[in-house]
Amino acid sequence: MNNVIVVASGKGGTGKSTVCICLSVALVKQSKKVLLIDCDCGMRGLDIMLDMEQDILFDASDAVCGNCSFEEAIYKSKNNENLYLMAAPFDTENELSPSVFKQLVGKIKNDFDFVIIDSPAGIGSGFMTAAAPADRALIVANAEPTSVRGGVKVRKKLDALGINDIRLVINRFDRKMFNQLGFYNDLDEVIDAVQTQLIALVPFDIRISVIMQRGVAGLNWSAAASVFDCLALRLEGQRVPLAFKG
Ligand SMILES: Nc1ncnc2c1ncn2[C@@H]1O[C@H](COP(=O)(O)OP(=O)(O)O)[C@@H](O)[C@H]1O
Ligand SMILES: [Mg+2]
Repeated sequence: MNNVIVVASGKGGTGKSTVCICLSVALVKQSKKVLLIDCDCGMRGLDIMLDMEQDILFDASDAVCGNCSFEEAIYKSKNNENLYLMAAPFDTENELSPSVFKQLVGKIKNDFDFVIIDSPAGIGSGFMTAAAPADRALIVANAEPTSVRGGVKVRKKLDALGINDIRLVINRFDRKMFNQLGFYNDLDEVIDAVQTQLIALVPFDIRISVIMQRGVAGLNWSAAASVFDCLALRLEGQRVPLAFKG
């Protein structure tokens, strides 16, 4: 299977973790078994977003160091059947190397239909570790110049790593704000700048923020849920139109 997907952005705060969670929930709804790996060492957050903070005893570095088995570092979500989480090390000093992380993912990926890896901001060592096992990548960008520059930089790094299945997710899109800001004439300019084919356009939706801080049980309340359903289908290779066109 070629379904190890790293979610990256270069710039922080574009919505990588949000996309990881919402996409994983959508895949699970489509009967896929999903492992979500938080690779944001020192700044992990997926455990909070999935309301699993109290469950986590062991993280990815414990599995690698032999403090626990691989299975013991994989936690099943209470709210989402078929969704599993491996947490990032709590402290940066336990950051894994790219080769060690690649080996770890290699040993567990065949138990899942999809492995989604959340990466830290930047294009440094943490990003290189997150991207090491990936077959595919999603670049998450907002439609503003600094975010687009981050997307361009991360695209170059992914190309250099030999990852050639790369798609763009434009997140937090608000047409009125986009037009008022006037950084770009249209969305094609954003897509052309990152030189990456668009796979999803996610609307700005304040309910996403609220839901993400409280666990994802209520994701279906959000208008953006259908966008992630569509993204999941597209990643499964189905030809479906964008759910939101801005
Ligand atoms: N589509 C969206 N609409 C509204 N808020 C969003 C959306 N996507 C993400 N956010 C919010 O933006 C902030 C950053 O998102 P997060 O996923 O933590 O980014 P990253 O992981 O890239 O640092 C969070 O407060 C999150 O709730
Ligand atoms: Mg994050």
